[in-house]
Amino acid sequence: MLDFGGQYAHLIANRIRRLHVYAEIRSPNAAVADLADADGLILSGGPSSVYGADAPTYNPQILEMDKPMLGICYGHQLLCHRLGGQVEPGQTHEFGAAYLQVNHAAGVLSGLSEREMVWMSHRDHVTAMPPGFTALAETDDCPIAAMGDAERKIYGLQFHPEVTHSVRGMEILDNFVALTEAARDWTMQQYIERTMHRVREQTNGRKIFLLVSGGVDSSVAFLLLNRALGEDRVLGLHIDNGFMRKGETALVERLMRESGFANLKIVDATNEFLEVTAGLAEPEAKRLAIGEEFLRVRDRALADLELDPEEWLLGQGTLYTDTIESGGTENAALIKTHHNRVGVIEELLAEGKVVEPLDQLYKDEARELGEKLGLPHHLVWRHPFPGPGLAVRALCSDGKADMAEMATVEAEALKVASKFGLTLEVLPLQSVGVQGDSRTYAHPAVVSGRSDWKTLEALSTELTNNFNSINRVIYLLGPDQRPPQKLKAGYLTCDRLDLLREVDAINMDALERHGLMQEVTQMPTVLLPLSSDGVQESVVLRPISTDDFMTARFSQLSQEFLDDVCGRMLAVAGVEAVFYDVTHKPPGTVEWE
Ligand code: XMP
Repeated sequence: MLDFGGQYAHLIANRIRRLHVYAEIRSPNAAVADLADADGLILSGGPSSVYGADAPTYNPQILEMDKPMLGICYGHQLLCHRLGGQVEPGQTHEFGAAYLQVNHAAGVLSGLSEREMVWMSHRDHVTAMPPGFTALAETDDCPIAAMGDAERKIYGLQFHPEVTHSVRGMEILDNFVALTEAARDWTMQQYIERTMHRVREQTNGRKIFLLVSGGVDSSVAFLLLNRALGEDRVLGLHIDNGFMRKGETALVERLMRESGFANLKIVDATNEFLEVTAGLAEPEAKRLAIGEEFLRVRDRALADLELDPEEWLLGQGTLYTDTIESGGTENAALIKTHHNRVGVIEELLAEGKVVEPLDQLYKDEARELGEKLGLPHHLVWRHPFPGPGLAVRALCSDGKADMAEMATVEAEALKVASKFGLTLEVLPLQSVGVQGDSRTYAHPAVVSGRSDWKTLEALSTELTNNFNSINRVIYLLGPDQRPPQKLKAGYLTCDRLDLLREVDAINMDALERHGLMQEVTQMPTVLLPLSSDGVQESVVLRPISTDDFMTARFSQLSQEFLDDVCGRMLAVAGVEAVFYDVTHKPPGTVEWE
């Protein structure tokens, strides 16, 4: 898998491995000799245009290698461009679901029906194929959506077979694998063995100190490291950073004890974390301060325990997704920095002092691994919770907002909402999103009025597609008459975090009671410094479902659930309004920061 920087690049490798074929990610600048062992090559998508000044550099000799090749999106255009075809800017920019008209169900499209649902995300498109290629399929906006040269076993796809919204994408990838001579022998058992071997080699007699948040990733990493090195060479540290869920630390301690881990220490560092984040509002500044404080607390704990820092390496439960979204691969645009990829850790990584036993895995694979290693089912299936915790869910602000230039956008957006019978307001704060392959930082629009999920979904898509300064849409659940609200000053303070903990606990409890824990993949509760009196706050529910976290859909929960949760939240002192996030990813990310 040659990574040209697409958000989905690692997902392709993950999908190939699900077909039990070992796949590695390599730079497109790799030397031909380094790729000699590969049975086939896949060229990923990416944010650039093949004609763009920012087009990623690559080794053109790779395209002359005599191997089965599959180009996806950017990879498809690059193959076309280099092998003698023509790529041009598209008339429309297709983002999202499209119907594929299959004209030749051959090669990688073998077995497909005439009409298939696929996922598109592109601007340029192929207008003329290179010599030797046949067009296999088209969409309304893209005449050469799939092409192939059966003789050379080279195929190009404008759409993304790797995302689950491309309904028969796995069959397409399977068809490509079948064209290669790759062995289908990649299994989780092998991953465990390879990783244990890798960990033993990397540590070379030294020990590993691991921060255990209680989430799936760090718990699975902790267990795997214990297996690889034995309890004497692993020490887990759970830091209560003050951004944990209600009762979380006590729960982590109990779960780990029940799972038979005696080598876990608990440290309460709430005050330290509140101090380093005091007065910070900008999301990346908060993340950075928290990431760095993690390491200081770790070092202090090491000193207190009188462990020799040269003797102890740092373990992390980093997943594949964590590294790609931090721009960890050469070509991916920076979406947001994960706390386990901040500067200091990068330095330790470069020195070989960080051990990451899950760094090749996606969340679903980490869970599979957890079950294989004997972790209790309820721990494996807990919702993921970000390292910086509630800190990235309590939006902060100095209370000042200049919305003058948003007035026109708001007026235009209101016209769109009116078409759907709803009213609209653009909020004076911003959240992170993702569009194409790049990060956005723009305003949420709040819509209110009586509606249903279908209408809200259509409106949300229309608004985020048409207004660059709106990347998220939320729906007012209650109260029916929302008072005029303004941005207020609010930072990471005990009272705000306690309030967020309270409403988050209501949400989690409701998910459990309504039997929705599995259907909903994750449900952040977000606190907004929005208020009519400068004292109360607003709350957003963000339930989503996803397989891979690269794309996600907002969950469409029952009215019964909404009434239950909204009623309970509004009864909490300090909560003024409750909203529901109706934005898919893209264009919104799961978390707001
Ligand atoms: P986004 O918001 O990027 O979230 O769509 C995708 C998944 O990543 C989690 N996430 C984080 N996890 N540190 C973490 O450990 C972080 O800084 C962080 N930011 C997002 C998020 O909860 C979701 O599961």
